[in-house]
Amino acid sequence: MSERQTPAIEARNLHRTFEANRKLFRKGETITAVEDVSLSVEPGVIYGLLGPNGAGKTTTIKMLSTLLIPSAGQALVAGYDVATQEREVRKRLGVVLGGDRGLYGKLTARDNLTYFGHLYGMPRDTIAKRVDEMLEMVDLGHRAGHRVEGFSRGMKQRVHLAKALLHNPPVIFLDEPTIGLDPAAAVTIRKVISQLVPAHTVLLTTHYLHEADELCARIAIIDKGLILVEDTPAGIKRRVGGEQRYVVRVRGSHNGVVTDELRRLPSVRAVELQESGINETTFTMRCDQNGSILDEAVRVLQRQGSRIESIQAVDPTLEDAFLALTSGAE
Ligand SMILES: Nc1ncnc2c1ncn2[C@@H]1O[C@H](COP(=O)(O)OP(=O)(O)OP(=O)(O)O)[C@@H](O)[C@H]1O
Ligand SMILES: [Mg+2]
Repeated sequence: MSERQTPAIEARNLHRTFEANRKLFRKGETITAVEDVSLSVEPGVIYGLLGPNGAGKTTTIKMLSTLLIPSAGQALVAGYDVATQEREVRKRLGVVLGGDRGLYGKLTARDNLTYFGHLYGMPRDTIAKRVDEMLEMVDLGHRAGHRVEGFSRGMKQRVHLAKALLHNPPVIFLDEPTIGLDPAAAVTIRKVISQLVPAHTVLLTTHYLHEADELCARIAIIDKGLILVEDTPAGIKRRVGGEQRYVVRVRGSHNGVVTDELRRLPSVRAVELQESGINETTFTMRCDQNGSILDEAVRVLQRQGSRIESIQAVDPTLEDAFLALTSGAE
């Protein structure tokens, strides 16, 4: 049996409340941002924290990065307690928070990073070299001498990433690192993130589920401050109730009798119309993952005189699983 490694991040029953805004709530009322979060992240992997808006992801990351004190519970990052050993934690941590400001517009990218290098207490003689390396890594070497105020959002986000990596921290938290970026800029950031492991451990939040699927070794889905599931992306997809989906294309316009009959088949959960034109109709059949549903469906279609163009089995995506598991299903 392989030896169990000490987790890079470990949270036990983290809980955080906020005092409610007095204008909106009665005095003394509290909002629970994080109800009960426990997780364990082994070193050298990208771990995804996914959940709908307001689920408690940023609050969890802020507690883990010593920016917010937990109301209850405990957490260790790189082996140090976030509540009692903040300095040790901060030394070993790089953080990019969503909507992060904190760059100096009038300074160049290089001067911004140099400033933070000093702030981090990095040895003076290593800063210049490391700053240039990091700017190269995020593909901004050619803009190193330009003022940050002239940078696009994607470029600023890459400066933030370079800043978080500057002191070579073993653990990195990225809160929605690709939010609002165009596809090419998001690809650049994803490439950088994928190269951070196994040298670093990364905790990542994102609303782009394909991104989590592509990058993360494991994922926790959080909703209303509670972790609902924790598994590999493949494992989470398998949990969606063993549902099998088929996309069916038939010749001709939509025939309601056909879809009604398909709905009546015992293992069919739903039939959803995707596209209906004069020449062709496409619908999705969601079925239990067993039995000979295809044979039965084909019989129904043939009996109704539908000409089948194609039937394609579609595997559930992480998005399907997410919607099935969270209140986002509404
Ligand atoms: N400083 C605060 N004061 C009061 N309530 C807060 C505060 N910070 C967060 N909350 C509340 O805590 C809950 C969780 O917020 P949090 O920002 O952690 O969610 P999130 O999962 O990061 O959401 P998003 O996907 O929108 O970024 C929300 O209901 C939010 O309104
Ligand atoms: Mg957030």
